[in-house]
This record gives sequence, structure tokens and C-alpha cells, in this order.
Amino acid sequence: MIMVIRGSKLIQILVFYLIGLHCMEMALTGAVPCMDSEQDALLKIKEGFKDVSEPFSSWTAEEDCCNWRGVGCDNTTGHVTMLDLHSRDPTSKLPGEVSPSLLDLPYLRSLDLSLNHFQQTLIPEFICSLKYIEHLNLSNANFRGTIPSSLGNLSHLKSLDLSGNGLFYLRAENLSWVYGLSSLEVLALGGVEISNAEDWLDAVNMLPSLVELRLFFCNLHKLPQNLHHVNFTTLKILDLSLNNFSSTIPDWLFDIGHSLVYLNLSRCQLHGVIPNAFGNLTSLISLDLSDNNLEGPIPLTLGLFQEQGERNRSSSLRKLYLSSNGLNGSLARSLAQFSQLAVLDVARNYMKGSIKEAHLQKFSSLRVLDLSSNRLALKVSSNWTPPFQLETIGLRSCLLGPKFPQWLRSQNNFSAIDISNASIVDVVPDWFWNLSSRIMYMNLSFNKLKGHVPDFSSQHQLSELDLTGNNFSSPLPRFSANTRILFLAKNSFFGHISNLCRILSINNSLNYLDLSSNNLWGEIPDCWKYGHNLIALNLANNNLSGQIPNSTGQLIRLNTLRLENNILSGEVPLSLKTCTELAAFHLANNRLLGNVPTWIGENLQKLKFLSLCSNSFSGNIPRQLCQLQFLNYLNLSSNSLSGAIPPCTFPGMMTAYFDTNPDMSYPYMAYSDSVKLTFSSREFIRYSKFYHGQLFFNVLDLSSNNLSGRIPTEVMSLDGLIFLNLSRNHLVGPIPPNIEMPNLEALDLSRNYLSCTMPSSISSLTFLSLLDISNNNLSGKIPLSTQLQSFSGQAFIGNPQLCGPPLSDNCSSNESFGDPHCSIEEGDDEKQGIQKQEQHDFKIPSFYLSIGLGFIVGYCGFWGSLLLNKSWRYSYFRFLGNMNDKIYVMVAAGAAKLKRKFQHQQAPK
Ligand SMILES: *[C@@H]1O[C@H](CO)[C@@H](O)[C@H](O)[C@H]1NC(C)=O
Ligand SMILES: *[C@@H]1O[C@H](CO)[C@@H](O)[C@H](O)[C@H]1NC(C)=O
Ligand SMILES: *[C@@H]1O[C@H](CO)[C@@H](O)[C@H](O)[C@H]1NC(C)=O
Ligand SMILES: *[C@@H]1O[C@H](CO)[C@@H](O)[C@H](O)[C@H]1NC(C)=O
Ligand SMILES: *[C@@H]1O[C@H](CO)[C@@H](O)[C@H](O)[C@H]1NC(C)=O
Ligand SMILES: *[C@@H]1O[C@H](CO)[C@@H](O)[C@H](O)[C@H]1NC(C)=O
Ligand SMILES: *[C@@H]1O[C@H](CO)[C@@H](O)[C@H](O)[C@H]1NC(C)=O
Ligand SMILES: *[C@@H]1O[C@H](CO)[C@@H](O)[C@H](O)[C@H]1NC(C)=O
Repeated sequence: MIMVIRGSKLIQILVFYLIGLHCMEMALTGAVPCMDSEQDALLKIKEGFKDVSEPFSSWTAEEDCCNWRGVGCDNTTGHVTMLDLHSRDPTSKLPGEVSPSLLDLPYLRSLDLSLNHFQQTLIPEFICSLKYIEHLNLSNANFRGTIPSSLGNLSHLKSLDLSGNGLFYLRAENLSWVYGLSSLEVLALGGVEISNAEDWLDAVNMLPSLVELRLFFCNLHKLPQNLHHVNFTTLKILDLSLNNFSSTIPDWLFDIGHSLVYLNLSRCQLHGVIPNAFGNLTSLISLDLSDNNLEGPIPLTLGLFQEQGERNRSSSLRKLYLSSNGLNGSLARSLAQFSQLAVLDVARNYMKGSIKEAHLQKFSSLRVLDLSSNRLALKVSSNWTPPFQLETIGLRSCLLGPKFPQWLRSQNNFSAIDISNASIVDVVPDWFWNLSSRIMYMNLSFNKLKGHVPDFSSQHQLSELDLTGNNFSSPLPRFSANTRILFLAKNSFFGHISNLCRILSINNSLNYLDLSSNNLWGEIPDCWKYGHNLIALNLANNNLSGQIPNSTGQLIRLNTLRLENNILSGEVPLSLKTCTELAAFHLANNRLLGNVPTWIGENLQKLKFLSLCSNSFSGNIPRQLCQLQFLNYLNLSSNSLSGAIPPCTFPGMMTAYFDTNPDMSYPYMAYSDSVKLTFSSREFIRYSKFYHGQLFFNVLDLSSNNLSGRIPTEVMSLDGLIFLNLSRNHLVGPIPPNIEMPNLEALDLSRNYLSCTMPSSISSLTFLSLLDISNNNLSGKIPLSTQLQSFSGQAFIGNPQLCGPPLSDNCSSNESFGDPHCSIEEGDDEKQGIQKQEQHDFKIPSFYLSIGLGFIVGYCGFWGSLLLNKSWRYSYFRFLGNMNDKIYVMVAAGAAKLKRKFQHQQAPK
């Protein structure tokens, strides 16, 4: 009994002692220490991460776990309540996994696992048992699969961020699980596929505390126009951009009332006019309606000083993005209401009128002005001093000239300027080149600018310079090693091409270099060992001579190589076979000789465009070319090639085949400007079409060689061809009867030894607008069709035995039925051509292809730099800036993954 009392006393003393210790510790550290069980749980969670750098480096047993980086405790109970494990360096993060030991932190209120790499695993269901959780951030963490709907059990949740786990890798059938989250203030699902969630707005309407809603790029296509009663009247941030709604701007937006601060509806396929009711959103600071199909004028209520009873109040609007719509009307008239703006972007609309000094006199806060590509003129006097200091100047295709705009002299803080195509015919004054040391982007292209171009080597920020299409006459300038894009084409830059090595110096960052159409001469220098960043190189239309140097083989990222229209000689160096990224290879009009290299077919597997025309290549056309899966332009004309035409079935020349190879869109387009096709000795440049937003340019030209034998039947079923020219060879036999080329617009088979009757299938060529089969040995009656008889007799002459309209010879009896030479022997063993591709079921909707992904994808090539350069891109070209921000969110660490996704989708079966 006594013992028992004593015992309990002892315990009491012990307890008091312990509490005393505890209090001492609290007094020392100011907090209750962390619990052993929770410390153990944290260490198990750490084991799930292979990466032990930040924040884990501070996680040592000696230190109280509440003091570990990224861990937060309740300072009265000692329970871990906050765990922030977001990756500090998302570009180099290692794969990890989410440990179920999280459940041993039962009082967790905030969990941030963003920017990690959870290896495409599902969001673990056990997260939904963290019942006190208030903040859950699983963004950019490489999760995939269906979002567990038991997230809806987390009734304390205030913010939920699942954005950026790759494009549509995460999905939800509906949003009914959101209904229960009545405390939710932030919901971010950017990039989550919720296309079936017709109920999305109803679900959102159950969240009366919502402050921030981000549903960009969710593949939504329903934007309800009416909502009976708007519940979320405290909403401040609404981002629905990058969804294809195909609707007008809905009325319920304006019922949100006075809380809305940031609204982004860009790239939503919205049409109709901009409603006047925008004037009612009195707290709105940033409005983005860019890249839609909106029409009509800018409403007069937008940005207007609001009448508030007696007093006038300045509108809150500071940033207005309306670019790439169909807006019209006079901009000058709207300007009065925008003088408080910091950002005004109305680029790429149909706004018109002259803007004078008086219109801009009150714009003292303006930082970003983009009026590009409208029908606007800026008419200011030469001594005008604007009230603003711009950071971004976008005046592309505005009428600024003919004198160089003197007011720019007052602007010495800009980082981006585009005054291209602005009708300026003048010498660039020296002060302009010295204006801004912050310059990152400069585009002066397509004016008639003259004068000397200075040394840019101290412009360390300059990343992109475009001087294309002016009259600059100077030796090649120097540049800093940070320059990534350099377009100096179509000027009069002169001198020895070896000056190029000053640009291509050690550690350079150059991705795109275009020096075409200048007066450069000499042998291409051998400094390509520093060209490993180059994606496109264009030296066409100069006077370059000598051999193509072996070191061009070090251009391992090169996607476009254009050397056409020079006087290059010798053979194509074998070393180029290492340039396996090449998509466009253009060597036309030089003095190159030797065989057409077999390694082109064997190694350059991404080739889409190959032109070797007008050189002195000899020997056979190598059969290896048939291996080029993506080839859709092949021009070997005007050489001395002999032997038979190989029976290739180029998948790239089939309509069924639709390649969207991501890395290529940008430079690949760039060659089309100089592609000339010859048809009966006349030049045609018009054969290019866009198909699903992609260049569609399927050409086979083998004319003016010494090719012999029959036309392979395979050629006649390249059903995507637009232009087929086999003229001026020694081809014999019949025209194969299996003509299946519904897209063909030009067919030239003239000046061969083709015989027999014309196949009747030739009348299926309904788009044919150019035809020449003259000067052969064809015989019999010309098949009847609306198309064939519409050509003049010239198309058929020189075939003495051919008869019928449009020729004047009426057919008598000189037909050649039964001629053994006219049968088509199949020779199956001869054919090792590639089988026709099956139609690809490309899953991304064309909407994203043409304007969304098409863009992202086009820039995959310099993904890394994009991320690094986010800040400056952000500041300029809304279009780019905006996208980059999204891209950053989407794939900050998963770029390679996104790329792989596309490669996967377009990889041949
Ligand atoms: C406990 O935390 C609260 C809120 O974080 C803080 O205001 C307070 O000062 C803390 N108390 C101690 C003893 O550190
Ligand atoms: C969520 O709640 C439902 C219904 O109350 C329950 O059946 C389910 O097990 C819960 N899920 C989790 C992960 O706790
Ligand atoms: C989630 O984390 C990302 C990246 O760390 C951050 O940018 C974002 O703002 C966070 N989301 C919320 C709702 O706090
Ligand atoms: C929502 O989707 C889940 C499956 O993810 C399904 O079980 C549920 O029935 C759906 N709810 C509604 C209202 O369609
Ligand atoms: C508004 O929210 C409340 C509570 O969340 C809900 O009961 C009500 O049905 C909602 N109203 C509408 C029109 O959805
Ligand atoms: C905008 O406000 C005006 C006056 O305050 C009101 O008459 C009008 O109905 C409002 N429009 C909308 C769409 O809320
Ligand atoms: C290029 O390499 C080939 C063999 O690979 C060699 O014969 C030739 O001399 C080299 N040319 C130059 C200019 O170095
Ligand atoms: C957007 O969706 C509409 C209707 O669903 C469709 O007709 C249209 O082609 C889509 N727009 C684009 C650009 O894909």
C-alpha cells in the first residue's frame, strides 16, 4: 500500500521533473521538441527521395526535427504540422516516391511535394487520409493517372494544387469530389485532363470561399453561358486559358462582382464581342483575352474611370492583353481610357488609325506597349519626348517611317524592341545602338535600314537579333557568347566567311544562325567544333567556294543545313553522317560531285527535305534513300544521275502520313522561302500548302538526269505528292496504270521514251493544273476527262501516235493494244520499299496542335534555355511570355517527358 503511494509520488516527482526539463527546453528553444515517432516517420519519408541535398542536408539526428529545413511543428504540442519538400532544383531532380509514413504525421496541415519526380505514379490514396490537411501542393511532381476522388474527404482543405503534372497525364472523370471541399480557397488543376467534367462549373459553384481558380489547359470545351446564382463571389484569380470553349464570353463572369483581380481567358477560342460589362469588374487589375476570335471594337467601358456616385475613381486596370483577335475600330479613340495602364498589348488585330503625341501624353506608367501587326501609324514629331520609359516596345508593321523614329532616343531602359516591317528608310543613328545595355531582343527586320552595324560583343544580354531584309552593309559584326538567335539574312554583309569564327567562338550559345543572301565569300571555315548548340545554319545565296569542311560533322544538334546557291565543290563530307538530327538538307545549285551518299539514307533518319539539285552528282540513286521515313521533299534534278529509279514508297509522301515531329516546325518552315521547282524549264514557287497547320509540301523531282528503265509503279501511288517531275531522262515503258495521287497539281514526264497508251487512271488527277507529257512515244487515244482536255495540245505534242482531243489528230486505228512492252511486270522481289504507314491516330486535338502545342513543341529545342530565360521572355511578346510561363508550370522538370510523349505519338509503328 505504502509502496504504492510512494511509487505514485515518485512518478509524480518524475513527471514534475520531466515537465520541468521540458519547460527548460521550451524556454531555451522557444518550442516543444518534436516527437520521436514523428521524427522516425520523417526519416522514412526522406528514404523515399534518392536526392539527399536540399532540404534533407539539415536533417540530422542531433538537431530537433522541428528545426529541420522544410519541417514545421505546432509550438505548443510539438506535432509536425508542415512539411515542405518541394525540390529546390527541379531541373536535376532525382526520382523519388511518396512514403506511407506520411500517415504517421497525423497532424499535418500543410504538405508541399511540388517540383519532384514521382516517376509517373498515381497520387497515393493514403494522402486522402491526412484528415487535418489544409494545404496540399502536388504540382509539377510527375504524377499521372486518375485523381483519387477521396481527396473530397479532406474537408479542411484550403488549397489544392495539382497543376503541371505533364499535359493531361492526370485526369478526372468529373469534379463531383470537389463538392465537399467547402473551405477551399485555392484550386489549381492546370494541365489536368477534365474534358468529361461537364459539371465543372457547378462543382466550382459549391465552393463559396474560393479565391483562386486555375483550370488552364484542362481540355475543357464547355463554358456554360448562364449560372443561376454565382456563389464564389470572393474569387480574385480566375485562369481558364488554353481550353477550347468555342463560345462567347459568359455573363456569369460579371456576377462575381467587385472581387475579381486577375482574369485570364486567353486561347479559349472565344468569339463575339467584348461585353461592356467588363466595366463593372471594378477591381480588375489584369485582363488577358489574347489569342481568341473576338471581334468588334474595344468597349468604351474597359479601363474607363468609374463613376462612383459623386466622385470619379481611377480604374484599377493596369494590364490589358488583347492581342491576336479580330478587334477593329479606331485605337486612338480607345486610348483616352487606358492612360493608367502599365501594359497595353493589342498586337495582331485590325485596329486602325493614326496615333499622335496627344493620345499618349498621359501614359506615364506605361512599361509594355505592343501595337504590332495592326493598321496603325505612329505620327509624332521628331522632338517628341514621351512621358513613359518602355521596357518592351512592340511596333512591328506599324507605320513609323520613313525617318528613323527619333523619340526612341528617350527610351533607354528597354529590353525588347520590335520595329520590323515599319517602313523605315533611313540610316540607323549611332545613338540607337548605344541606347540600352539591357537589350535582350531586337528585331529591325524588313525595313530599308542602312549604315554600319556596330560591335555587339559587349551586349551580354542580347539573346536574339533579327536584322533580316535591310540594306546593312558592313563586315560581320561580333557578338557576345550569349547570343542564341542571329538573323542577318538578306542584307549586304560582306567579307570573308571566316569572320564567322568570331561569332562561333568558344562557349557560344548560338542556336540559329542565318547569314543567307549576303555578299560573303571564301571557303567555309573549319570552326564548327564550337557549333554543338546550332539547330539551324543557313549560309545560302552567298559566294562561298571550296569544300564543305569535315568539321560540319560536329553540328550534332543541327536540324536545318542550307548551303544552296553558292559555288561549293568537291564531295559531301562523310563526317556529316553524324548530324542525325538533320531534317532539312539543302545543297542545290553548287558544284558538288561524286555519288549521292548512301549514308544520307542510312543515317539521316529524320530527314524531311533533301535537295541536291543542280550539282554534278553521278552514279545511281541509292536505294538507301527509301529508308527515309519522314522524307516529303526530294529533289535530285539537274545532275548526271543514271540507272533506274528505286521503287521507294516514302511514307512521308503519303497523305495518310501526318508527321508532327516537334523539333522541326520552326527552322523547317524557314526553307520554304527559297524552294523553286522547275516545270518545263519555268520556275514555280507556289507549291506549298498547309495541312493541319503543318507545312504540306510533298515533292519528287528527279528531272534532267540520265535515269533509265521504267517508272516504278510505287511512284504512282505516293498519294500525298503535289509535284512530280521525272522529265528529261531516258525512261521507257508505259506510264504505270495505278495512278493514285489525288493531291497532284503538277505532273511532268516530258522528254523521255515512254510508250504505250496513257492509262485511264490519269483522268483521276482532278487537281492537276500543270501537265507535260510531251516528247515521248505515247500512243493511242488521250483518256477523256474534264481535266485532261482542258490543257493545250502543247502538253501532249511530240508523241506522233497520240491522238484525240485536245490534239487535232482524231484517232484512226493506230492504237497499240497487246504490245508486250506495255504490260507491267511486278517483280515483287525487287521491292523492298517501306510499307505504307497506317493512319496515325494523333490524340492531341488539332486546336492544341496548331496554336498550343505547335508552339510549345517548336521551342522544345531550346527548352533548357527557355526555363532559364523565363524572366525576359516573360517581359516581352505576351504570346511567348505567357506560354513560357505555362510551359514552366507544366513541365518545369518534365520537359524531356513531354518531348518523349510527342516522339512516342509520332513514332512510326
Ligand atoms: C508559436 O507560433 C506562433 C504562430 O506561429 C507564434 O506567434 C508564437 O510566437 C510561437 N510561440 C513560441 C513560444 O515560439
Ligand atoms: C472517403 O469517404 C468515404 C465516404 O465517407 C469513404 O467511404 C472512404 O473510405 C473515404 N476515403 C478515404 C481514403 O478515407
Ligand atoms: C505549389 O508549388 C508551386 C511550385 O513550388 C508554386 O509555384 C505554387 O504557387 C504552389 N501552389 C500553391 C497553391 O501554393
Ligand atoms: C464521377 O466519376 C467517378 C469516377 O471517377 C464515378 O464513380 C462517379 O459516379 C462520377 N460521378 C458523377 C456524378 O458522374
Ligand atoms: C452555393 O453554395 C452552397 C453551400 O456551399 C450550396 O448549398 C448551394 O447549393 C450553392 N448554390 C448553388 C446555386 O450552387
Ligand atoms: C453593370 O453595372 C451597371 C450599373 O452599375 C448595371 O446597370 C448593369 O446591369 C451591370 N451589368 C452587369 C452585366 O452586371
Ligand atoms: C576530310 O576527311 C577525309 C576523310 O575522312 C579526308 O580525306 C579529307 O582530306 C578531309 N578534308 C579536309 C579538308 O580535312
Ligand atoms: C474547338 O471545338 C469546336 C467544337 O467542339 C471544334 O469544332 C473546333 O474545331 C475546335 N477548334 C480547334 C481549333 O480545334
